[in-house]
Amino acid sequence: MSTKESPLHRDAPHESGLGHVTGTAIYVDDMAGPTGTLHAMVLHSPHARARILSRNGDAARRLPGVHAVLFAEDIPGTNRIGPIVHDEPLLAEDEVFAIGQSVALILADDLMTARAAAAAITVEYQELPAILSIQAAIEAGSFSTDPHVIERGSVTEALEAASLVLDGEFQNGGQDHFYLETQSALAVPGEHRSIHLYSSTQHPTEVQAMASEVLGIGRHMITCEVPRMGGAFGGKESQATQYAVLAALGAQHLGRAVRLWLNRDQDMLWTGNRHPFYSRYQAGFDGEGRILGFRVEIYSDGGWTQDLSGPVMDRALFHLDNAYYIPALHFRGQVARTNLASNTAFRGFGGPQGMLVIEEAMTQAADRLGIDGAEIRRRNYYGESPRDKCPYGQPVTDCRLDRIYVPLLKSSDYYARREEIEAFNDERPWIKRGIAFGPLKFGISFTASMLNQAGALVLIYTDGTVQLNHGGTEMGQGLHTKMLAICAHELGVPLKAVRMMHTATDKVPNTSATAASSGSDLNGQAVRHACAELRDRLRSIAASMLDLDHSSRDDLRFQGGRVQLDDGRGLDFAAVAQQAWLEQCSLSATGYYRTPGITYDREAGRGKPFHYFAYGASVIEVEICGLTGESRVLRVDILHDVGDSLVPSIDKGQVEGGFVQGLGWLTTEELVWNERGYLLTHSPSTYKIPASGDVPADFRVTLLEDARQDDVIHGSKAVGEPPLMLAMSVVTALREAIHSFANTERPLELEVPVTAERILRAVENVRASNEESDPDVLLSPLKDEHART
Ligand code: MTE
Ligand code: MOS
Repeated sequence: MSTKESPLHRDAPHESGLGHVTGTAIYVDDMAGPTGTLHAMVLHSPHARARILSRNGDAARRLPGVHAVLFAEDIPGTNRIGPIVHDEPLLAEDEVFAIGQSVALILADDLMTARAAAAAITVEYQELPAILSIQAAIEAGSFSTDPHVIERGSVTEALEAASLVLDGEFQNGGQDHFYLETQSALAVPGEHRSIHLYSSTQHPTEVQAMASEVLGIGRHMITCEVPRMGGAFGGKESQATQYAVLAALGAQHLGRAVRLWLNRDQDMLWTGNRHPFYSRYQAGFDGEGRILGFRVEIYSDGGWTQDLSGPVMDRALFHLDNAYYIPALHFRGQVARTNLASNTAFRGFGGPQGMLVIEEAMTQAADRLGIDGAEIRRRNYYGESPRDKCPYGQPVTDCRLDRIYVPLLKSSDYYARREEIEAFNDERPWIKRGIAFGPLKFGISFTASMLNQAGALVLIYTDGTVQLNHGGTEMGQGLHTKMLAICAHELGVPLKAVRMMHTATDKVPNTSATAASSGSDLNGQAVRHACAELRDRLRSIAASMLDLDHSSRDDLRFQGGRVQLDDGRGLDFAAVAQQAWLEQCSLSATGYYRTPGITYDREAGRGKPFHYFAYGASVIEVEICGLTGESRVLRVDILHDVGDSLVPSIDKGQVEGGFVQGLGWLTTEELVWNERGYLLTHSPSTYKIPASGDVPADFRVTLLEDARQDDVIHGSKAVGEPPLMLAMSVVTALREAIHSFANTERPLELEVPVTAERILRAVENVRASNEESDPDVLLSPLKDEHART
């Protein structure tokens, strides 16, 4: 089909962009509930771990305007939810395992009354010792999964043969999702005890399934509908469920509509984050900087329930190689169970945490072997050789690492700027710069094979307009914009003739979460199949309207709102649709897709967990101040592979947004708990997400050209998560800048996030060791340099 007049592969505004900026885009909490909609509030645990001795809601129930106070025993079905293992009590029973765990549900006329009721509930706790860090969990043997091991060859032999052996530790912090729209749900009871559940969730089917189990009714009695989300980033893949189900519980209990919405502090305190990881590693390199062997033991902080921690750890293990071929390896990963909020999916899903470890090893090796950081990485790249299999045995086909490396180093002027920076640093005692290159390879697919499926439902009306339903959810990433472009392209109708419907479980059943960056890969194919089916039916109708013989029937094209032949003979799409109805031909069709060939055997640590890989690389230049520890990103060059982009303007937005979110995680966003396991940084006053001023002033984002990917929807590639990892090289760039304060070559350990405090401390340490070796350094004049830059 010609792409003439097709919206595919063309820039377009986000389908809700106008709605976002004018305030007309509707989110769950904007939806008007029926008259008498009640407000729900959750009473949460104030202790990281405690036995519940008694709980009493009578005083609260007596308050005017309070309609119910529900505890665990008021749940009609099961009191267990969870995305994989159902290990999470919806309401606490006789013990609490984290601050923020839900203990009681209050239903009242308004929020103020609900708050007063919460204060009137008495719960007696007996505090128990809590585990509040990965290290403490390891010591106590507290884990929520078995170890997952992936290995190849003999690391011991490889390390013996190595000319450099690194023996290190690494850790990274978590990250709050900080979606602009906090968790939110509205449950409306219907006939026959059915419930219509509006939820800000990435996973409407899971909300439907968990609500059905908790309420003890069939899934057919529950519809979950998602208008759109004000951001999710993985934080609503499993953790929207609890609050939606609580709203449904209230609605069923009272037969009235119930709204539940978390304020920012509650959302930050009660819901989980990106997993912090701790790892120990040994890496052996030859004299040219080639990695020979890599042994890594990694642990994540899973929090108090399993949630998605198992698959997050799997993906971390799958990305410990990042872009590099490792001949001998032993990777072992295990999830620690602590008494903190349960950690969950977050853009990259463990991949970034895994990749940081090998990036650290590469940086350390480059320092010690005196090899440039970009060069050592290139030397270790996967190539096209059949030898070059991933640790789990999947070959790296269609590797684009070199295709990105060469032009990016050139366009960013990497080597020349490195020299300029050295000269700059030599002259400046307090302001130092650093530059670093970092590549990425990221596997696309759900690693649980059966999740790689999707459905769509397309309805054509007799005036030629179309309603489009698919199983994916819109969270700002532009999925709907892409699906509209695909649908309009396939049916050859103008974009404005297609209306995107809310995602709902009564239109497309049994869906997977919109996650793993595969929303457009999966749903796009399903939409295409539904449209192809409809085109086929309409082609027969149009052929008989035009009196065509069977062979020219296949030459009919759907484009420009017409169904026509190349010689111009044809009909309006609407006329064909009208005729189809007259001839009693169905004008709706479902589409279905499953990704072929995905398998993984966890016991063996072998398989093909990914359909393909996304590639990209960045060059980042930073500047730090040795007096305050403040840092700035001066310039960023990115070359990223999104295949033949479905909508390039959307993909560019994903690259920019993902990158800046990665910068936040790695530099300013720091979660701090007190000794009781209470999160101190539960609002934007103490938790610093990047602001518009933190976007690199010189930000050059280019999409790789001629990058069509076979066997993916219209040659495109997934883009949602990978760009976050383009920010990883900021750690290396900051380290370089800090290092330039040193007059001796000493290894430098840095924790992530590399906050201003950590930079300042590192600089002071470096300068203190200078003093030991050369006491005169500290006497260098303190120029008024800061004011000049
Ligand atoms: N972009 C925006 N604006 N908001 C989001 O919440 N989530 C990210 C990414 N980009 C997110 C986003 C995450 S975690 C994933 S998995 C993908 O979008 C999901 O959408 P996709 O599969 O359609 O790319
Ligand atoms: Mo994204 S972390 O897979 O929701």
